[in-house]
Amino acid sequence: MNTTATASVLPVPMPGADAAEHRVQELLRANEELKQLNARLSDAQDKLMQSEKMASIGQLAAGVAHEINNPIGFIFSNFGTLERYLDDLFEMLAAYEEAESALAGSPVAARLKALREKIELDFLKEDIPTLMTESKDGITRVRNIVQNLKDFSRVDTSQKWVLADLHHGIDSTLNIVNNEIKYKAEVVKDYGQLPDIECLPSELNQVFLNLLVNAAHAIRADRGTITIRTGATDTHVWVEVQDTGEGIAKENLVRIFDPFFTTKPVGQGTGLGLSLSYGIVKKHLGHIDVTSEPGAGTCFRVTLPIRHPEEA
Ligand SMILES: Nc1ncnc2c1ncn2[C@@H]1O[C@H](COP(=O)(O)OP(=O)(O)OP(=O)(O)O)[C@@H](O)[C@H]1O
Ligand SMILES: [Mg+2]
Repeated sequence: MNTTATASVLPVPMPGADAAEHRVQELLRANEELKQLNARLSDAQDKLMQSEKMASIGQLAAGVAHEINNPIGFIFSNFGTLERYLDDLFEMLAAYEEAESALAGSPVAARLKALREKIELDFLKEDIPTLMTESKDGITRVRNIVQNLKDFSRVDTSQKWVLADLHHGIDSTLNIVNNEIKYKAEVVKDYGQLPDIECLPSELNQVFLNLLVNAAHAIRADRGTITIRTGATDTHVWVEVQDTGEGIAKENLVRIFDPFFTTKPVGQGTGLGLSLSYGIVKKHLGHIDVTSEPGAGTCFRVTLPIRHPEEA
């Protein structure tokens, strides 16, 4: 402060003071550059850690999925057979019941009646089909989870890379999830110009589906807004899904891409949506970024290259 004041009063600037000021400025600039560099480094380190973590989780997931896939497969197929056998047995039982009247008065008839009451045959006939349906439902759910884990760890690599219009994919996904969204939020589309990109369209649709459903779930108030923005640079396209929902607590931000991380009640979320999406976007050599403010909302941005460089 002093130096500047003196310098401005004096007709000839003091070379020493000037040089000192210059050095201070230089140092400040260098310091600022270092700070930025440091921030970028720690950012890069975070990303690296995240991707290493996901890679090892991916391997684990692939192993688990593979192990579970087999037993679930035969349980599922045996279950179908069991259902058919049970139908046959019930039919047989009905025939026996009909024949029972012919035995009226005999000791056998009394024994049958006693047994029927003891095992509560009428109740069993009602309950067994219910149990079967519920169990089948459970097995189907396990199968879906295993499939999701497999997708996440990219076990299946049979799909074809094609040129596709992302807006088309987003719109058709919106149609599918419309039921989940329409009572919770108004959807605003702010589409830019997008070139067709080289991608696995059905997998990307799964990403959009996860982001849209998550956005709708995050809206706790009566109604909110989900904004879908798109845009492109020379080499990349990006899609943003922004909601006016409850936001994500800071300590959770680093965990949302972990498989099975969920803040939803048991039975409502498996915590696989984002980890799956992460894997799919990674496969496209893109990235997902998220910004969130608790209480105000969240924005997920998916950035994808327009051309997919051939994998070695
Ligand atoms: N838009 C969002 N706003 C607020 N929280 C979010 C949002 N998206 C994700 N989250 C948080 O991240 C967690 C993980 O999300 P993810 O989609 O992986 O699993 P899920 O939605 O809980 O379950 P699933 O997708 O398997 O049904 C969510 O439980 C939620 O806490
Ligand atoms: Mg989800």
